[in-house]
Amino acid sequence: MSEQTPLLKVRDVKVYFPIPKGRDWPWQPMPMLKAVDGVSFDLYPGETLGVVGESGCGKSTLARALIGLVKARSGEITWEGKNLAGLDDKGFHDVRRDIQMIFQDPLASLNPRMTIGDIIAEPLRNYEPGLSSEEVKQRVRQIMDRVGLLPNVINRYPHEFSGGQCQRVGIARALILKPKLIICDEPVSALDVSIQAQVVNLLKELQQEMGLSLVFIAHDLSVVKHISDRVLVMYLGNEAEVATSESLYANPSHPYTQALLSAVPNPDPDLERNKTIQLLEGDLPSPINPPSGCVFRTRCPKAQESCAKNKPELMGVEHHQVACPVVMAG
Ligand SMILES: Nc1ncnc2c1ncn2[C@@H]1O[C@H](COP(=O)(O)OP(=O)(O)O)[C@@H](O)[C@H]1O
Ligand code: SF4
Ligand SMILES: [Mg+2]
Repeated sequence: MSEQTPLLKVRDVKVYFPIPKGRDWPWQPMPMLKAVDGVSFDLYPGETLGVVGESGCGKSTLARALIGLVKARSGEITWEGKNLAGLDDKGFHDVRRDIQMIFQDPLASLNPRMTIGDIIAEPLRNYEPGLSSEEVKQRVRQIMDRVGLLPNVINRYPHEFSGGQCQRVGIARALILKPKLIICDEPVSALDVSIQAQVVNLLKELQQEMGLSLVFIAHDLSVVKHISDRVLVMYLGNEAEVATSESLYANPSHPYTQALLSAVPNPDPDLERNKTIQLLEGDLPSPINPPSGCVFRTRCPKAQESCAKNKPELMGVEHHQVACPVVMAG
């Protein structure tokens, strides 16, 4: 993979939100909520990166930063060699054609007053205004067929649909411009378990067929296992572990990854019985006042005194990196 140019290159990206109500006097510095606090990764054409971490870890903020919906306060996001921060409106409009997004709540992300056909056609009308209405209809029908929507629903409205069907509409809309990357922000979290696998498999199939790259966000490691080439585990805005799926699931190393995995039931009853239960204790600390040093230390079963001092950097071999010097010294 490394001979190729990455599609997306993310370097030490930080996104902080000012908290105006968090100070007593106006001359005090505005407290900052550190939603994303130094994330780096590369994404290659055709590759899927899973991004996992419990709710509030900064996954959606990272996703929004990648498409410029929130501004990174520092760091660099490069798309096909172009720095996103340096693009003018026209340049950004062009990039957004190639990067589409699918959201968690399928119904809420679809305009309730538009028909399914119009919702799916909207990006096409925006980016290819020269198409005739017959051509648009044709493209809409094609993509509806690909995502498993029957042609006779084209004039229906989102509220007439189930969550799974709405998500198929969202996928069709994201795919109609044939983008290079789709950022899927917990696309199956709101769906019944029985429908989740269908939607994940559909995305995987479409990805292989169209050579798409995916960033697939979930709060559960089991959801991304079969779709991801690599997985990034996030905790409180920081990277805990980044590895190929194969290596991560065979040898989860960061105490946070281990805790996330032990929360997933194991289908093998023997392994399940022998599993050391190490569920996470306590709540996620506030990202306004994150713990010093390693942000995971307040909940880490392996924490030592030294963990309060320095923020751990990712260490290890290229296909498996862990931000924990204690484990690495292991
Ligand atoms: N626009 C915003 N203003 C202030 N804080 C925000 C904003 N968006 C997200 N946050 C905060 O940033 C943190 C990360 O949120 P988010 O990226 O949504 O996490 P996740 O998607 O992993 O659940 C949370 O503490 C959240 O409350
Ligand atoms: S650096 Fe310390 S607190 Fe952080 S994960 Fe490793 S052992 Fe736990
Ligand atoms: Mg989110």
